[in-house]
This record gives sequence, C-alpha cells and structure tokens, in this order.
Amino acid sequence: MSADFAIGIHDLSVATTQYVLTHETLAAQNGTDVAKYHRGIGQRSMSVAAVDEDIVTMAAAAAAPIVARHAADRIRTIVFATETSVDQAKAAGIHVHSLLGLPSATRVVELKQACYSGTAALQFAIGLVHRDRSQQVLVIASDVSKYELGSPGEATQGAAAVAMLVSAEPALVRIEDPSGMFTADIMDFWRPNYRTTALVDGYESISAYLQAVEGVWKDYTEGGGRALDEFGAFCYHQPFTKMAYKAHRHLLHHCGRDVDEADVARAVEPTTTYNAVIGNSYTASMYVGLAALLDDADDLTDQAIGFLSYGSGSVAEFFAGTVVPGYRSHLRTDMHRDAIGRRQEIDYAKYREIHEHSFPVDGGDYPVPTETAGPYRFDGLSGHKRIYVPR
Ligand code: CAA
Repeated sequence: MSADFAIGIHDLSVATTQYVLTHETLAAQNGTDVAKYHRGIGQRSMSVAAVDEDIVTMAAAAAAPIVARHAADRIRTIVFATETSVDQAKAAGIHVHSLLGLPSATRVVELKQACYSGTAALQFAIGLVHRDRSQQVLVIASDVSKYELGSPGEATQGAAAVAMLVSAEPALVRIEDPSGMFTADIMDFWRPNYRTTALVDGYESISAYLQAVEGVWKDYTEGGGRALDEFGAFCYHQPFTKMAYKAHRHLLHHCGRDVDEADVARAVEPTTTYNAVIGNSYTASMYVGLAALLDDADDLTDQAIGFLSYGSGSVAEFFAGTVVPGYRSHLRTDMHRDAIGRRQEIDYAKYREIHEHSFPVDGGDYPVPTETAGPYRFDGLSGHKRIYVPR
C-alpha cells in the first residue's frame, strides 16, 4: 500500500578520496591505448583511497554535512550499504555513528548484495518512514573497488561514498511505487572472504547486467510502472560509464524502439560526469550518478527519473523518482565539485604502493600516518581493532 504522503531523498551528499590516478598514467604504465579507457569504457581517472581512508572515513565525510544541516534528532536508523566491508561482524555504520556523535537511541545495520545493496537500503528506509513519518533514515553507500593489478577490471576501480537522508515530503526526489525486481544465481563477479580483490568474468558480467535490465523492466511494467517515454533521464549503475549507454540501448532495443544515439546521450550522459572521474564506487555508483544529474542538468523539476540498480550475483531493481520543485536550493554542487577537484594526483609508483599495502594480522599496534585532508581518518590497528578519529 502506498503512503498518502511523499517519501524519498531529502538530502544527498557525496565524498571521495584524497588521491586520484589518471587513466593516462595507467595506460602509459601498461601500454594500453588511452582511447580504450577514455572512449571504450568512458573513464578518465579513478579515486584512490589513502591508507588512512576507507569506507568508514568516506561515509562519515559524506554524512557529516547532512547531520550538520538537519540535526540528528529525527534520525532513528542508519543503513550502511557496502561490499567492501571492514569487519565480518560489526556494522561499519557504528563507526560513523560514533564519529558523528549521533544519539544512542539509533538502529544501525550493514547490508550486502554487491553493488545493489544501496538500493535495498533506500527501499528499507522508505518502509520505515512509511511506518512513522516523523522519522528520518540515514542511508549510506560506501565502497572502495579493487581488482588485481594488470587485470581488465583494474581500469574500472574507484572509490566514493554517498549519504542520503530519507524522509517524508523530501526536498530532492520522491521515490515511487512500483519497483521491478530481478534475481538470478550467477557468478559474474564475487569476492570470497579470503580475498582483498574481486574476481570477475568481465563479459559474463556485462551480459548478466543486460539480462537483468530485461528482467526488471518486465516486472516493472507488469506492476503498472511508467511508460518509457515518461522518463526525463535514466540513472544506471555505472561500473564504467559506457555501461550506462550499453544498458540504455539494450532497454530501448528490448522495448522495440529505434536506438538514436543522441537520445541515448540525452538520457544518460548527465549522470556520468562524476563517475567518469571517480570510477566504480559499487553501492554508491548509481547515487553518484544521481548527484551528477541533479548538479549538472538543466532544471529537472517534476521530471521522472528511471533508476536501474544492478548488483552482480545478481540482484537488480528498477524504480522511478520524481524531482521535487525547488530542489536546486538544496543541492551540494560546490561541495561535490570541490571533493572531486581537490584530489591529489598520484604517480603509478604511489598507486602501486597503496594497492599492495596490507596490515599484519597479529593484533599488534600499527598506527597510520596522516595522508588524508578529509575530516575523518583511519588512525590504525591496535589489538585487531580499527581506530577512527576526526582529523
Ligand atoms: N579506442 C577506443 N575504444 C577501444 C579501444 C581503443 N583503442 N580499444 C578497445 N576499445 C573499446 C572496445 O571496443 C570495447 O568497447 P565495446 O564494449 O563497446 O565493444 C571497450 O573499449 C572495452 O574493451 P574490451 O572489451 O577489449 O576491454 P577489456 O577486455 O579490458 O574488458 C571489461 C572490459 C570487461 C569491462 C573489464 O574492464 C572488466 O572486467 N571490468 C570489471 C567488471 C565490470 O565492470 N563489469 C560490468 C558489469 S558487472 C557490474 O556492473 C557490477 C560491478 O560493479 C562490478
């Protein structure tokens, strides 16, 4: 049953890392034509987390401005979505809760299903607000994507966090019913507990994603969703930005439409500007796409946006949102551009040193020197415990 009041995204904030590696640097190192990265996969650079940054520090950096603007007294729940968790038991959101000084009367939980779980978090948050419209839910999606050095996936790495405040009568985007869902048991991308880098069958993963596009659209349409022509833009999960174009062309084909490249670009391009320079931020990626769309596109008031969330393994969901009149005065465009623009470019040697870094697992004290200029940092390990501090 739909609520008789609107529910959706009231505030949206993006954070990323201290460092950035350009695809020119990666291409020069591995002898690849950089056009493959720029034009072939649509990536210009990737965010690289310093050793004193991780999913928690990025998440806290994204969430802090939301708490500063709205206060915390209505936030009763934090749902933290990630597939690059820092602990098998404790929810990373508890570290964020502590860093931000949130009230103890808060429910905190972590969700996992590859890149999809940010959308599960959003939908669960909507359910909680439906039950009690006075409550707000802090949804955080945060990931550091990591593939083996020299592997095809390496060029699609990245890192970012998105924090969203979900509430009644939202200021940015109202989320609508129905959702179209799709699940298929497939090993296209996965990361066993003993590995720090993901395993992926690249081409299988692209076809699994496209199969999911068909599956969610079928379920969405059967559930009485909007017609294709009603959407002003489409926000796809972006493992690399060209995937959004592939997905949209596939949807058009599937619906029996001619594929006009100018139309595809109009529907998708404004969602790709941040992801092209940040790289794959897994759970955060689709919402980084939403931030770019809201920040960069001409006035979107009352337009419907289609969201297609895909997580390997696989689970996918399609849903619609409508942009709220007056949304522009609530955006954090300058903050987002600054977070991306102030990253420090690193050379291949520094990138490789970070990629290969690991901590001993003997429970000793391993302090980490300050590198990040962000508001929170990972201070090191002691007694197997991760220590987080404001910078
Ligand atoms: N100039 C211009 N374009 C070039 C080029 C050049 N010199 N050389 C190659 N290209 C083009 C290719 O034609 C190709 O384009 P099309 O896909 O349009 O045909 C594109 O660049 C990529 O080239 P390849 O297919 O040869 O690249 P690859 O073998 O290195 O693999 C990849 C690409 C499979 C995406 C790989 O990067 C990968 O495994 N990535 C990780 C997995 C992934 O992102 N999967 C996406 C779906 S799964 C998902 O969405 C979940 C998730 O977040 C992981």
